[in-house]
Amino acid sequence: MLNIVVCVSGGGTNLQAIIDKINNGEISNAKIVGVISNNYGVKALERAASAGIDAKVVSPKDFASREEFNDALLKTVKEYEPGLVVLAGFLVNIPEAFVKEFKEKIINIHPSLIPSFCGVGYYGLKVHEAVLKRGVKVTGATAHFVDEGTDTGPIILQKAVYVEPDDTPKTLQQRVMEQAEWEILPLAIDHFANNRLHVTGSKVTIG
Ligand code: GAR
Repeated sequence: MLNIVVCVSGGGTNLQAIIDKINNGEISNAKIVGVISNNYGVKALERAASAGIDAKVVSPKDFASREEFNDALLKTVKEYEPGLVVLAGFLVNIPEAFVKEFKEKIINIHPSLIPSFCGVGYYGLKVHEAVLKRGVKVTGATAHFVDEGTDTGPIILQKAVYVEPDDTPKTLQQRVMEQAEWEILPLAIDHFANNRLHVTGSKVTIG
């Protein structure tokens, strides 16, 4: 059984998708042992509580420096002894020591088709604003392993979503979540939990 820690920052709809798919069996051999939020009072924490999952807040506001926050974050994650860390809308730069500790054991969901609209400054609604500004006709989401860069790790799964002429950043965000994120993140976790992901350099094969 794979023990998972899920890191969140806000709404937690991706966390909810994971909880639901563990409960209905679409994700097998896995359980969430802890949820960590960098923000107090967010909906994701309510979702964890409703599901009976232990949750903790590690907020940069409670530490004198970024280094102390980074240390506390890693320490808190390690206490759960997870086999996988999932970044489900976790809008924090993952420190190098964290990546090293959990090499090829951190999965992130990003709301675009990497390598488009990703990297520093592209997160949450900003991604969808940039997509609409550029006028691309297809966007989507990417589930990938986390390495030392920003959105540069090996790609596990991607799913495309059409941009509609009357989309706003919010309507597009919602459709990308519904049609892509809530499907490919749980699927990537199920593959990981059942040892179907094989990483060679920047490539992931499934099977
Ligand atoms: C999701 O769209 C996720 O892909 C994005 O933040 C949102 C969180 O929603 N993550 C990033 O932009 C990471 N670079 P949620 O809290 O409802 O899951």
